[in-house]
This record gives sequence, C-alpha cells and structure tokens, in this order.
Amino acid sequence: MTDKNFKRPIRKAIFPVAGLGTRFLPATKAMPKEMLPINDRPLIQHVYEEARDAGIEEFIFVTGRQKEMLEEHFDHQPELMEILKARGKHDMVAKVQDCQMPEGKLFLTRQAQPLGLGHAIWCARRLIGDEPFAILLPDDLVLHEKGCLSQMIEAYNEHGGNVVAVKDVPREETNKYGILDIDGDDGKHVGIKGLVEKPKPEEAPSTLSIIGRYILQPEVFDHLKAFEKGAGNEIQLTDSMAKLIGDQPFSGLRFDGQHFDCGSRLGFISANVSYGLADKNIGNDVREMLKTQKV
Ligand code: G1P
Repeated sequence: MTDKNFKRPIRKAIFPVAGLGTRFLPATKAMPKEMLPINDRPLIQHVYEEARDAGIEEFIFVTGRQKEMLEEHFDHQPELMEILKARGKHDMVAKVQDCQMPEGKLFLTRQAQPLGLGHAIWCARRLIGDEPFAILLPDDLVLHEKGCLSQMIEAYNEHGGNVVAVKDVPREETNKYGILDIDGDDGKHVGIKGLVEKPKPEEAPSTLSIIGRYILQPEVFDHLKAFEKGAGNEIQLTDSMAKLIGDQPFSGLRFDGQHFDCGSRLGFISANVSYGLADKNIGNDVREMLKTQKV
C-alpha cells in the first residue's frame, strides 16, 4: 500500500545495536557500548526516550552476541521497585519506571554478521513490513528540549517521503559520514539530489553530513536486499537510500540542538559534560567543578 504523498504515520523505529564498540575497549569488552552512560542513563535509553517522545510505538533492536543486557535494561524489575518503594526513594522509582518498555513493544532481531548498517536495517525488514519507519543510531545524541526525531517528524508531516537529520562538518571529515548532494537549501530544510557514503574530502559534493537519524519509506528494502557492497566493502544504508531519490521526496533537516558523536571518545566526554551542565539537579555543581579543573 503506497500513499502518493508518502506521509503515512511513523510508528516503528529501528535501533541498530549489534556493533562491537572497539573504540571503547576495554570498557566494552563484556558490556555493550550502548550501555555506556551519558549523565545518569545509558546511550540506548537516551535514544529510546527520544523515539518514545516522538510518538514511536514499536521499538526494534537489531542486536547481536553479548547484547542481552540491553533487553534486561528495558525489562520490569519488580524486586528493585519494591526495595526503592520500601526505602521511600520515589524519585528513583520514577527514573526506573522511565526505562520500562511497555509490554509487547520491544522486538528483537539479530544481525549475525557485521556486514554494514544497510545489512543491519535489512535484518529488521519483517518487523517493519510495509510502512515508513525511523532509525536512531545510539552513538548519535542531540541535546535539545524538543528531541531530534520529533523535529524530523514535523518536517516529515510537511514534506513527506524520506527525511534525514543533517549538519555541516569540516571538509576533512567527509570521509566519516554520508554526505548530501544538495538541491535547494532554505537554511533549515535541504533538498537532496544525491547521497554519497564517506566520500574523500576532494570528492564530496558538499560538507552537509547525515547524522544517525532517519525517516525512511519501506521501498528502501527493495534496494537493500540486493546486498550491494559500497564504501569500506560494507552494505551501506546510504547507497540504498540514494536509489529512492527521484521516485520519492527526500530531504534533510538541519535540526535544532547540539549533536554529539558518542562513538568517539572525545564526543562521549563532551556529551557527558554538556548533559551534566543541562541537568537541573547537578548542572550548577558541574559548572563549578569545571572552573576548578586543573589542566
Ligand atoms: C553511519 C552511516 C553514515 C552516517 C553516520 C552517522 O556511519 O553509514 O552515513 O553519516 O552513521 O553517525 P558509521 O558511523 O556507522 O560509520
């Protein structure tokens, strides 16, 4: 079933969580990198809350070996709740409740081999079926009152089709991202006439990069199933998305908020400082602590 405006509601989101997290070894030797905390909650919970607050109803984890802790994190913990209640720790009860996934809303599929992001998304094809969906990469966090996915859904309701979150990067870093070939830019919404995965700086069609938030139409699976390898000899999501351009609306959104690449150690530390500063309980103390840091 297609809607010629490509504006059907976004009810499902995919969270690719099968990655190894080698940049954080040894912290991630036995623990999934998605469980690393930014302030008081793990990365995966930040993106879960962003999706939930944007109206997502079904949460699909593309998982792998040694990732069971992620399911546990979102499960009900009756013993812990009893103890917290008995001790009168009502603020903690609320915090723990915040990461309990409503029953029947978490779905898991496994990516058995690390063949690339496009392959990870393809692994969720049966759980998505024939409807548009969101993707949130837990490495990417955006700090803002209104979550990045909520902002994207507003853009989607206006433009329809496929929407990616974008930001400018230094030209020497284009080889780390999916890069846009731009077709019109009003400063917020960007038209897209092409997409290239990790181009060399001298070959990049722009410096506008995709960060890890996507709203896509299900036809992307028609291209993903070809299993074509691209940059880094991996099955790239960007390559299949590029094939939708021309058939369906495709736009970029310069979102509001500060973006952190928590997959890098510097981005991770920077996110912890900024989320700490933004925290109403400890923000002032973090500010004071930073003033007295010896470097
Ligand atoms: C992936 C995508 C890339 C995107 C990036 C955002 O790359 O392939 O297009 O710009 O996420 O974080 P990865 O970071 O997995 O290499």
